[in-house]
Amino acid sequence: MQINNRHYRTIWPDPDNSRQICIIDQRQLPHEFVIETLTSPEQVVTAIKDMHVRGAGLIGATAGFGMFLASLQAPDMGFTSYMEKYAKTLGSSRPTARNLVWAIDRVLAAIAKDTDIEQKRSTAFATACAIADEDALFCQQIGQHGLAIIEEISRKKQGAPVNILTHCNAGWLAFVDYGSATAPIYAARDVGIPVHVWVDETRPWNQGARLTAWELQQENIANTLICDNCGGHLMQNGMVDMVIVGTDRTTHTGDVANKIGTYLKALAARDNNIPFYVALPSSTFDWKLDKGMHIPIEQRSGEEVTTISGKDAQGAITTVTLAAADTKSANYSFDVTPARLITGLITERGVVKAERQAIHRLFPENGTGR
Ligand code: MRU
Repeated sequence: MQINNRHYRTIWPDPDNSRQICIIDQRQLPHEFVIETLTSPEQVVTAIKDMHVRGAGLIGATAGFGMFLASLQAPDMGFTSYMEKYAKTLGSSRPTARNLVWAIDRVLAAIAKDTDIEQKRSTAFATACAIADEDALFCQQIGQHGLAIIEEISRKKQGAPVNILTHCNAGWLAFVDYGSATAPIYAARDVGIPVHVWVDETRPWNQGARLTAWELQQENIANTLICDNCGGHLMQNGMVDMVIVGTDRTTHTGDVANKIGTYLKALAARDNNIPFYVALPSSTFDWKLDKGMHIPIEQRSGEEVTTISGKDAQGAITTVTLAAADTKSANYSFDVTPARLITGLITERGVVKAERQAIHRLFPENGTGR
């Protein structure tokens, strides 16, 4: 994606030092564009936990490179136990996004095939790069499948702008490139379909206000920031043609855990007959979980609810307190949207019903789930 007319991915190996990994520190956006260099596996855990990087696909890609950095630090004697121990620590850094453990397991499985330690280290690097490249490719393909849906709506609207509502940031910043929910939007722009995006602010971390609106601006996509409570009103007034969101974990039965507030958007969309799509690469599927309500839901610090950060009039980034000093707050980060409220899942292989059999037909290599 373009930042000030220059192409970036969200994560890449440092071209000057192959033992270092570069990320964009998303805590500073949109006010500062800061590139951070990760040099140790411990820094990777912190980067994921404290959300320097966030979003399911990017968490997975970062975890892949975390495993590579761990392999550099692992002693030749006791290499495997060091890697397994680190995998556990890394895997518990954020509980909801499926891509985290998926990426860790993929690196562990790849290096298990090598006998030579140096070979294991290069396999870890190659696997991390493959995870990142695949994430970008799959998102691009999601874009092409989602484009067909937007084209259809555009035809019905006789070329008037297609209004798409999105929640949180399932954009380029949540993946390695393109994004999942945003990929169809970028694809529509590329073929000249006018699109306009309603961007939910997404309290408490404000991924919509801080990341999605900025990302769309960089790509010259028309967008309007709205507060989280606005979507239902817009839908009732015919101002939303479709909803596209991302997902952190999707059961093989089609239930979706996504950023807190997604469920309410799905309910409002259903009440107003508005198509509600979820875009995801297959790395986000949980092939074992039957019920969305069993997905572990991350609870973050209540401070994210009682405070808010932004740029003050002097240009300094500052945090202010919204609530009285001893206010009790809860911060459930994700909620579950049941499959019955989802019009379709947009994957790299095509659009599929949020339903067990259809999902397994599209991804037969994962068995039937029974
Ligand atoms: O807490 P985050 O920012 O990591 O959560 C990300 C989301 O929930 C996004 O909405 C997204 O849809 C899932 S990541 C593609």
